[in-house]
Amino acid sequence: MTHESGGFDLGRWSAAFAVEDSSQPTTPLDLYGAHDARALYDETYENYKSFVNPPLARVMKLSGSPVEVRALGSTIWDHNGKAYLDFAGGYGVFTLGHSHPRVVAAVREQLERMSLSGKTMFSPLLGRLARALADLAPGDCSISFFANSGTEAVEGALKLARAATGRTKFVATTNAYHGKTVGALAVSGRDAYKTPFGPLLGDIVHVPYGDAAVLPDALRDAAAFIVEPVQGEGGIIVPPLGYLRAARAACDASGAILIVDEVQTGLGRCGMLFGCDRDGVVPDVLVLAKGLSGGVVPIGAFVTRPSVWNAAYAKQPLVHTSTFGGNPLACAAALAALAVLHDEDLVANARARGEQLLAGVRAIAADYPSVVREARGLGLLVGMELQSEGYAGTIVPEMLRGGVTAAWTLNAQRVIRLEPPLVVTAEEIERGLAAVRGAVATAFAKLGVLVETSSTHT
Ligand SMILES: Cc1ncc(COP(=O)(O)O)c(C=O)c1O
Repeated sequence: MTHESGGFDLGRWSAAFAVEDSSQPTTPLDLYGAHDARALYDETYENYKSFVNPPLARVMKLSGSPVEVRALGSTIWDHNGKAYLDFAGGYGVFTLGHSHPRVVAAVREQLERMSLSGKTMFSPLLGRLARALADLAPGDCSISFFANSGTEAVEGALKLARAATGRTKFVATTNAYHGKTVGALAVSGRDAYKTPFGPLLGDIVHVPYGDAAVLPDALRDAAAFIVEPVQGEGGIIVPPLGYLRAARAACDASGAILIVDEVQTGLGRCGMLFGCDRDGVVPDVLVLAKGLSGGVVPIGAFVTRPSVWNAAYAKQPLVHTSTFGGNPLACAAALAALAVLHDEDLVANARARGEQLLAGVRAIAADYPSVVREARGLGLLVGMELQSEGYAGTIVPEMLRGGVTAAWTLNAQRVIRLEPPLVVTAEEIERGLAAVRGAVATAFAKLGVLVETSSTHT
C-alpha cells in the first residue's frame, strides 16, 4: 500500500468505531438560552467587546461576522439559521467536516467511561493511538508524544531536537508559521507577531523557503531544520519538488534533526496522507495537530524515531510532559477520526476535489487578472493571491454574505485560503467557487484596479 492511500491498514482501527451515519441536524437551531437571534448576537458581541478582545470584536463586527451556533459536515449555521459552506475549515482543523457522527459517538462513549487521565496508570487509548500513528507515519517514526495544540507539539519537537543533539541552533524558513508560544514563534517568520515579545529563543537562522542550495551551509552545527511541506500561513506556498529530499540530505550530512511540521498539511489535506510523501521523505520528527482528532477534541502530537527519542530522553522519561496531552477524550476522537479518514477514502477525495477547486480558482484568476494575481495549492489547501491586500477586505465579507466562509493566511494577508473539509462534495466545491467569483466581481466593481508592490511568492 502506498502512503497516498494510507501507508497502513486504517481499516483495522475502523471496526471499533462503526456507528449509524446521520447527515443532517434533526433538532432546531439552538440559541443557547437567548430569547431570540438578535439577543444572542448582541450578548455575544458585547461579551467579546468587553471581556475577550475589544479591537478584534470591532473588526469582526465590521466584516459582518455572525454568531456560530451549530455545525455538521461542511456546513456551519449562524444565529439567524443561515447556512454557510465552511471553506475556512477552522484553518485546517475540520478535515472530516464538523461533528462527524462517528467521532462524536466515540467521544461520547469515552466521556461516560473516563474523560481525563489519572496520570498514574497506563491509558489504553493513548497506547492504541500511538500504535496507530506508528503504522501510519513514514519510515520508522514510531514514538508519539501527545500535546493539546500545534504550537505545543512544535515546542516539544524543538526541545527534543536540542536534547537529542546537544546543539542549540535551529534553522527555519522565512515566512514560516509554527505557532505562537515562545519557541514556535521564534522559528516562525512574521515580525509583527514577534516584535512585542523579544528576545525570543536565540540561535535561530531563517533561510528562504524552497531554496535547497542554502541548506548545507545553514545547517552546519544545527540541532534541527524545521519546515512545512507547504507553507500554509505563509500564503499557501508549494516548494519545488525535491526540496524536502534535499533538506533530508543536508540534515543527514550535518547531523541535524529534520522536523517536518504537518500541523496543517498532514492527514490528507494535501491529497496525500502527509505532505512529506510528495518527496518520499522520512522526517526525524513529524508534527501533527489540527485534523488529527477529527475536529472534535483538541490534540497535538509529534511522532519521532526511537533513536531520536532515546538520544533525548532514555535517561529522563519525565523531562517533557503534559497534564492534558493525550487525554482519553482526544485519543478516542483521534482513533475514530483515523478510521473515518480510511473508510471514507478522504485522501483520494481531497486530491480530486482539490484539483477541481484549484482549476476553478485559476479560471477566476484568468477572468479577473487585475484582482487575482495567482491561484496555487496542493490538494484542499488552496490559496488565491490578490494583486492588492485592499481587495481582501471586500472579498472575505462578500463571500460570507454569499454563504461561504473564507479567511486570509496569517502571514500573508493578500492570500485568501480556501481550505474546505476533505468530505466536501463536487457540488459544494461548485457552490464555493460561485461565491468566490461573485465576491471577486464585486470587489472589482467596487474598487477598480488597486496597485500593490511585491508578490508573497518566494
Ligand atoms: C504549520 C503550522 N504549525 C503550527 C501551527 C500552530 O498550531 P496551533 O494554532 O494549534 O497552536 C499552525 C497553525 O496554523 C500551523 O499551520
